[in-house]
Amino acid sequence: MSTPFLSVRDLRVHFSTEDGVVKAVDGLSFDLEKGRTLGIVGESGSGKSVTNMAILGLHDPRNTTIDGAIVLEDKELITATEREMEQLRGNKMSMIFQDALASLSPYHTIGAQIGETYRKHTGVSKKEARARAVEMLRRVGIPQPDVRVDDYPHQFSGGMRQRAMIAMALVCDPELLIADEPTTALDVTVQAQIMDLLKDLQQEFGTAIIFITHDLGVIADVADDVLVMYGGRCVERGSKKEVLRAPRHPYTLGLLSSMPSLDGPVDVPLSPIPGSPPSLLNPPPGCRFHPRCAFADKVSGGLCSTERPALEVVDGRGSACHLTDEQKREWFADFAAARTN
Ligand SMILES: Nc1ncnc2c1ncn2[C@@H]1O[C@H](COP(=O)(O)OP(=O)(O)OP(=O)(O)O)[C@@H](O)[C@H]1O
Ligand code: SF4
Ligand SMILES: [Mg+2]
Repeated sequence: MSTPFLSVRDLRVHFSTEDGVVKAVDGLSFDLEKGRTLGIVGESGSGKSVTNMAILGLHDPRNTTIDGAIVLEDKELITATEREMEQLRGNKMSMIFQDALASLSPYHTIGAQIGETYRKHTGVSKKEARARAVEMLRRVGIPQPDVRVDDYPHQFSGGMRQRAMIAMALVCDPELLIADEPTTALDVTVQAQIMDLLKDLQQEFGTAIIFITHDLGVIADVADDVLVMYGGRCVERGSKKEVLRAPRHPYTLGLLSSMPSLDGPVDVPLSPIPGSPPSLLNPPPGCRFHPRCAFADKVSGGLCSTERPALEVVDGRGSACHLTDEQKREWFADFAAARTN
């Protein structure tokens, strides 16, 4: 088998805090190929952003311990120097955050900020960088880009700022783009436009995209593959169709049950998952989901509260749960049937 473009193996990101060690990510593995979009979904605090900040090398080494492996093509990122990471960021990989205003400087024009990122990595002249900024603004659908290039961020609307940030993230044609809830703050129409834009750009450049969201509807729209995180671990992964249509983990089932049908109204009651996410200072033993899992008492020997279920992945499909395949098929079937009617 060929080496994946991005490979994350047994990633652990632990923070030292006054209260103890926060095990924010605790043994996460996944691969991503070029031209594909991996959707990462999970409740607040499940470790989505921490994972991606680790890939980009943005954690503060003074209180963060990172173990495992993150390999981008043939480059190991965890052991890379800050200088090497700076080179890679913006050039080979870049990130779009939820809040464009916080990521853009209020003191410089949009064009100067996009151009500066380009200059830093290519060494072109200011004039060429400006022309490139105009071209990027045009690409992301900003009207009159040759005029708006000289605007300051506050002169842009929220949706335009988000587009400008996308233009900045894409100015060096990154091979890996990490989008962390990039559309949450926007209205539905702008969300859809931005999603279309990312798809177009991916087709054009063959970019690998990691798309983080709470919203399974967004996953259904943009992702090829889905990784479901719970308490710093992957509990289920597979193709979008497999995960959304035939989930194999009770947590995924819970997430899907708590959202409206992907195909419009279907008579399935919405039922949020009871309880709250696990403490990452003192995570529950065994399966981290067991205090909230409706199926935990179906597994004999109290295994759910004592033994961590392994995530066995075959052909990109896997779930970490002690239930047998037959049990899942039998008990999750009603759900799947109701959703696909
Ligand atoms: N620098 C840090 N020091 C200590 N704990 C941290 C630090 N950064 C993140 N955490 C903790 O790590 C856990 C995972 O955080 P993360 O930001 O990855 O969640 P998330 O899945 O992105 O959630 P959300 O959907 O709300 O953005 C949280 O409990 C968070 O409080
Ligand atoms: S391992 Fe047990 S507690 Fe965890 S999801 Fe499966 S059934 Fe539920
Ligand atoms: Mg986050």
